[in-house]
Amino acid sequence: MDKLVIEGGHPLEGTVRICGAKNAVLPVMAAALLTQEELVIPNAPMLSDVDTMASVLRDLECSAERNDDGSMHIRSQQKLVQRADWENVRKMRGSVAVMGPLLARTGRAEISLPGGCVFGVRPIDLHLKGMQALGARVKVEHGYVIAEAPRGGLRGGEMYLAGSSGSTVLGTANVMMAATLAKGRTVIHGAACEPEVVDLGMCLTSMGAKIKGLGSPRIEIEGVSELGGATHAVIPDRIEAGTYVLAGAMCGGRVRVENCQPEHLSALLDRMFEARVPFTVGPDWIETQPYHPRDPARRPHATDVTTHPYPGFPTDLQAQWMALMTLADGISVLSELIYPDRYMHIAELTRLGAHIRRQGTTAIIQGTERLSGAQVMASDLRASAALVLAGLVAEGTTEVHRVYHIDRGYERIEERLINLGAVIERVDDKVPAEVG
Ligand code: EPU
Repeated sequence: MDKLVIEGGHPLEGTVRICGAKNAVLPVMAAALLTQEELVIPNAPMLSDVDTMASVLRDLECSAERNDDGSMHIRSQQKLVQRADWENVRKMRGSVAVMGPLLARTGRAEISLPGGCVFGVRPIDLHLKGMQALGARVKVEHGYVIAEAPRGGLRGGEMYLAGSSGSTVLGTANVMMAATLAKGRTVIHGAACEPEVVDLGMCLTSMGAKIKGLGSPRIEIEGVSELGGATHAVIPDRIEAGTYVLAGAMCGGRVRVENCQPEHLSALLDRMFEARVPFTVGPDWIETQPYHPRDPARRPHATDVTTHPYPGFPTDLQAQWMALMTLADGISVLSELIYPDRYMHIAELTRLGAHIRRQGTTAIIQGTERLSGAQVMASDLRASAALVLAGLVAEGTTEVHRVYHIDRGYERIEERLINLGAVIERVDDKVPAEVG
């Protein structure tokens, strides 16, 4: 297992190019199950989650290989295995996205229930409700969901797919994929509007699916009898982009984040404007401008954030925003409405000298002028990113342990940060023992 050793306090400057989006590529890879023809993803990012999805697909008897140019080629056999095992689903909840396509293509899907994760319960009841609305019989046995299509295959249905915290991204993706091969028309009310869902819809459309209303909460799908292959480049990763923008904002340097879609980050940019962090925006780039975040007169202004489904402020940038607010001038309030327990990073940021108090779904952050380097433990992907950002500005050395989390969603993060002027090294780690 590796750790990142960061020497804080070095200004960042330069350009970083954003990769294909993790949360777009995972369902797109699953969509390859809907056809026997080849699906090619030219810009599949080099992430461990992508490797895990490739391994899930191989277990189902698909071939999923990368060419030398980095493109991912997936072809699913005529006869597929119908069961996704606990080993992979446990590693990555995104594996659940194979349920819809597998059910639609083969009439049956057995998927391990993902279980909880560090930031809460994360149920899949809405995915199951959607499959039932398409006529599937669903039961849970021995830790597995078993979904079976009726004789004659899935049929179109009308459903409301949101729960108490709003719409579901992978649930919408799952039902949309299943409905492409169902007989007749499906209407999803309360559908997720995230760009990753739109991207999946575009991929399915190039495979021959008939979908209307992408990007709106009402998606309509007219089932077709079969789908074909496609070549689909996924959208740039808005969360990776937002993380580098926040790195620039925290270090006060000129960081140009290229190959991104700024309109996918409008909630973040709005909050940065409010926080008086200087930046400029172009059609496919965002650039933070030099300033002195340590200068008492120029520190970021304490700015409240509440996470919401898209186009609201993304939960996947909540931890990184909190890292910025630890240095703000004043008290800010952060409310996490998507995953109320996604706050594992608070204790670790506190070890770096941050002043944060949690009350239920809310965190209250009293900004401080300086953080100081320490040993910290990454608990999940975005929490790791927040700790790396804080380490970049903390005085002295910060060691971020359990950094494998970060490789799930950030391609070669230390290399990219070094290119921007950070002093950071990946070294082999003896992970400190758990304590009770
Ligand atoms: N929910 C239910 N029932 C369901 C599904 C979801 O109650 O059947 C609830 C969840 O508990 C949560 C809310 O609905 O409160 C939203 O969850 P959603 O289903 O949208 O999350 P997801 O699709 O499982 C994706 C991303 C997450 C991201 C969320 C929210 C992928 C692979 N994962 O998860 O990404 O946080 O949407 O935007 O697309 C990450 O990249 O770090 C990450 C965790």
